[in-house]
Amino acid sequence: MFKHAIVYSNVWEDPELNRRSLMIKPEDSVLSITSGGCNSLNLLVEGPQKVVSIDGNPTQNYLLEYKIAAVKSFGYDDFLEALGVEFYNRPSKYSPEYRLELYDKLRHLLSAEAKNFWDDNRDIIKSGLIMCGKVEKFFTIYRKILMFLYGSKYSAIEKIFFCPDVGIQRKIYDNINFGRWHFLNWLFLNRSILSLVKGAHSFRHVDEKEFDKNLNRKVDRAMRNIDNRTNYFFSLILLGRFLSPKCLPPYLLKENFDKLKNNIDRIEVFQGISTDVLKKFGPESFNKFNMSNIFEWMEDDLFNNVMREFIALAKPGSRLCYRYTLARPRNLDAKNLEILIPEPELAAELFAIDRSFMYESFHVYRIDKK
Ligand SMILES: C[S@@+](CC[C@H](N)C(=O)[O-])C[C@H]1O[C@@H](n2cnc3c(N)ncnc32)[C@H](O)[C@@H]1O
Repeated sequence: MFKHAIVYSNVWEDPELNRRSLMIKPEDSVLSITSGGCNSLNLLVEGPQKVVSIDGNPTQNYLLEYKIAAVKSFGYDDFLEALGVEFYNRPSKYSPEYRLELYDKLRHLLSAEAKNFWDDNRDIIKSGLIMCGKVEKFFTIYRKILMFLYGSKYSAIEKIFFCPDVGIQRKIYDNINFGRWHFLNWLFLNRSILSLVKGAHSFRHVDEKEFDKNLNRKVDRAMRNIDNRTNYFFSLILLGRFLSPKCLPPYLLKENFDKLKNNIDRIEVFQGISTDVLKKFGPESFNKFNMSNIFEWMEDDLFNNVMREFIALAKPGSRLCYRYTLARPRNLDAKNLEILIPEPELAAELFAIDRSFMYESFHVYRIDKK
């Protein structure tokens, strides 16, 4: 079930939705899915008492360990350099070997398993972690084909990142000749290709018609309504790097670096699933839950059983959020619905501002343990 390779080197889920739905307070204990590590670190910036970041794929946790060690070891500039953060039209002033020097400085902070992994993958460090996941490599191929298909006209696509306001952005976007772009979406967004990247199980609950035109609709919504100068998801995919030092996830922003560094000892990386977390931490150990889109592939029964484990882990009054990319939402059974109180208005309000265009739905619940 779980892969032993980096599938996601970034989290492609908008941290603003987590921030505004989970409403982190200083006394909070957060349980968060690791994936690329970004959203666990983004929640840490909010200043909770602790964040436990879990993943069933140990390699995702090695990536987060690396990011944590880089926060601990360096000042802001070297932190970005160690991760391979690059900005559009601003080449790094260092050679790629410099990243290996930084790795040698942070290496002692890693677990033995993470050390082994990164020692064997020094080439990834050299070329930069940010686009090293399978999903990110898929996006890089996508961007390169798009550039090839549009040739010199690709600059028309780049222009949509440099508009003075969303109205102009919408006009420029609507003027693009979409034929080749939509053809590429059709070619890339189908069950066979996506299964190669994320595993066939991820799409078990996706109807065939969802693949068709789904991506075009989602990209249109975000391109027409959300300012690309704030949308680092689009810039990573279409420009291959971050647009500017202001257009970054919260944990990479300069203004948050001191907070991140001060809080960094409050994050713990844990390998396993909810059952393992329950064994290790015991009932009622957390009150905020970021569950990514882990329910995407589960049958209703499994979904409800896993949810019961999260409920067991939750203190009264906890909050939790999760998403789906393509799949229909699973149904909560009556027993879980007695405890999980949905907040559909907040979820809809947040979904409307989702910068990460990929998701189909966002869900927010309060846990009401009588
Ligand atoms: C669900 S995937 C989705 C990634 C995400 N949409 C993103 O943009 O980063 C995130 C991570 O969850 C992990 N995962 C999936 N199901 C899990 C579970 N039940 N418990 C712990 N980790 C899980 C996967 O290994 C993967 O690294």
